[in-house]
Amino acid sequence: MKISQRAEQITPSPTIGMATRAKQMKREGIDVISFAVGEPDFPTPDHICAAAQQAMAAGHTKYTPAAGIPELKEAIAQSMQQQLGLTYEPGQVCVCNGGKHALMNIWQTLVDPGDEVIIFAPYWVSYTEQIKLVGGRPVPLMTTGANDFQPDLDEVQAAVTDRTVAILVNSPSNPSGAVFSHEIMAGIAEIALDNGLAIISDEIYKHLIYGGGQHLSPAMLGDEVKQATIIVDGVSKTYSMTGWRIGWLIGPQDFVGKVNSIQSQQTSNPNSIAQYAALAALTGPQDCVGQMREQFQQRRDYLVPALQQIPGVQCTSPPGAFYVFPDVSAHLGTELAGQRIDNSLQLADYLLAEAHISTVPGSAFGAEGYLRLSFACSLDDLREGVARLQQALVT
Ligand SMILES: Cc1ncc(COP(=O)(O)O)c(C=O)c1O
Repeated sequence: MKISQRAEQITPSPTIGMATRAKQMKREGIDVISFAVGEPDFPTPDHICAAAQQAMAAGHTKYTPAAGIPELKEAIAQSMQQQLGLTYEPGQVCVCNGGKHALMNIWQTLVDPGDEVIIFAPYWVSYTEQIKLVGGRPVPLMTTGANDFQPDLDEVQAAVTDRTVAILVNSPSNPSGAVFSHEIMAGIAEIALDNGLAIISDEIYKHLIYGGGQHLSPAMLGDEVKQATIIVDGVSKTYSMTGWRIGWLIGPQDFVGKVNSIQSQQTSNPNSIAQYAALAALTGPQDCVGQMREQFQQRRDYLVPALQQIPGVQCTSPPGAFYVFPDVSAHLGTELAGQRIDNSLQLADYLLAEAHISTVPGSAFGAEGYLRLSFACSLDDLREGVARLQQALVT
């Protein structure tokens, strides 16, 4: 059967691929420790599940408006006011099937074939593939652990061409956990405004900033920047609701109106029951958010020093999200247990096969020489995983 050129150029998500392989090995009875997952390991809080059951009992099982139920859009707008001091009308919100779908909606609304979007590497795996799916060109700019994964503003300026339509920021970042400084965010916003570019701000990890750090959205940098910014967020990471598939985008009314039209033709509304669960998440008790954050911080504070003890592993402490992104380049171009290891993919394969730990190679995120380890797993698993990693690397 014919396959379109569009489909041919897309690679499957390597993070999901790694997690699937690890799950398969587990099914075969192998005791795999998974550092590859991109979702909180906590159950969805009870009051959120109860709201879904109530929604079903109340008959909320039919189509809703394509862009989401009014109550949820209102709650999202209110949460922006309460949490970030940003005023949005509910009509500026489109509720989607997860943050991933919100991003896809944005590219479909913003990008014409040949248009360029500046992104920062290491980047979340779906950015490049989604932009390519709509015929756009992702333009990655490298950042490194040595510089806390902060971009160089001169490089951003130099990357702008007459085809650039947007700059994408993801703070806190998957995979590096980096949080952009105020100076960097303001510098990016200035370049965007000077060149008439949109700022796409993926803030899906905004509640996972450690040590009391405050989230900064570019939209908080003044009205003009807010007008140029489209925010992506959702309940997946904040409330441990990855499977419910509720995310959203918030931006200028006219842009969101176009997104609504696309969504109404492509998917219709996101799941009605999950929307009521998301409403309960946003309007119900918020202690669960702080409790999960505290546990993530404890794990990070165990994991980073433990990794730093392993020869050839350089690891900075991520200020946000639930990933560490250690530089393992010292182990590339070497032999481990008689096997030649030349790149991060071979290293990740070796670690899965030999040590039964699943990680994601840095190359999947556009950053060769690194591995991504998620700390969305128990402290016991982290301890065992680190011991296995140490043994596998120091043979
Ligand atoms: C940076 C980033 N953005 C967006 C998403 C999408 O999350 P979801 O579609 O579950 O809302 C993810 C999920 O891994 C992510 O890591």
